[in-house]
Amino acid sequence: MKVIKVKNYEELSRTAATIIAGTILSKPDCILGLATGSSPVGTYDQLAAMYEEGILDFSHVKSVNLDEYVGLDGSNDQSYRYFMNKNLFEKVDIRMEATHVPSGAVKSDEEAEQYDAEIKAAGGIDLQLLGIGNNGHIGFNEPLTPFTSMTHIVKLTDSTREANKRFFASIDDVPTHAVTMGIHTVMQAKSIILMAFGEGKAEIIKKTVDGRPEIAVPASLLQLHDDVELYLDEAAASKLS
Ligand code: GLP
Repeated sequence: MKVIKVKNYEELSRTAATIIAGTILSKPDCILGLATGSSPVGTYDQLAAMYEEGILDFSHVKSVNLDEYVGLDGSNDQSYRYFMNKNLFEKVDIRMEATHVPSGAVKSDEEAEQYDAEIKAAGGIDLQLLGIGNNGHIGFNEPLTPFTSMTHIVKLTDSTREANKRFFASIDDVPTHAVTMGIHTVMQAKSIILMAFGEGKAEIIKKTVDGRPEIAVPASLLQLHDDVELYLDEAAASKLS
């Protein structure tokens, strides 16, 4: 696990966008694993700017997103499909049919696992972008999710619903369940970058980097992958030894 410290959110976004751009330039038909949340928004802005400048071509790129709320469809402005369309897909020339977000209409884990089969059939994820939840979740893999998990339905913890209520009218509107790539799905990506900013992430980043890998802190399991880079701003890195 390589830790790269940057000054602030802007530098974080620029650095992550540069890595993603490098992947697209060296493999124009790459499969990008994408994330939602506030952490990657600036990165997506930078990628859209590079596209506008003619540096990047997304026309052969495929994408697979990490997760989606169960019960929300893509027309709902709180869905992750909507988020991705607005923050990236509609700003670049990626083909909409080449973008994949788990379906919020999923009814069973067997159905959810089809997502892994599709990723595998497409050749696997070249680069997976991750944020991190306050409790160490990656995607929506909450603490104690089995290491072998594939894409599956999860019951969101109260702390995650509380953290994400800022995007909803009230806590009652936050879905109780989500569908997420599993830990196994994420670990199969060829390379992974996790980004975190702000003081609020400092404690969980410390556990992720300095603690032993354990399922109680899903992000700490990334220590077991051989190509992971963590991009942290000064605040998020402030408790590292
Ligand atoms: C959500 C997403 C995660 C994301 C996390 C942190 O719960 N499911 O994939 O990493 O939020 O979000 P933020 O980047 O806003 O802190």
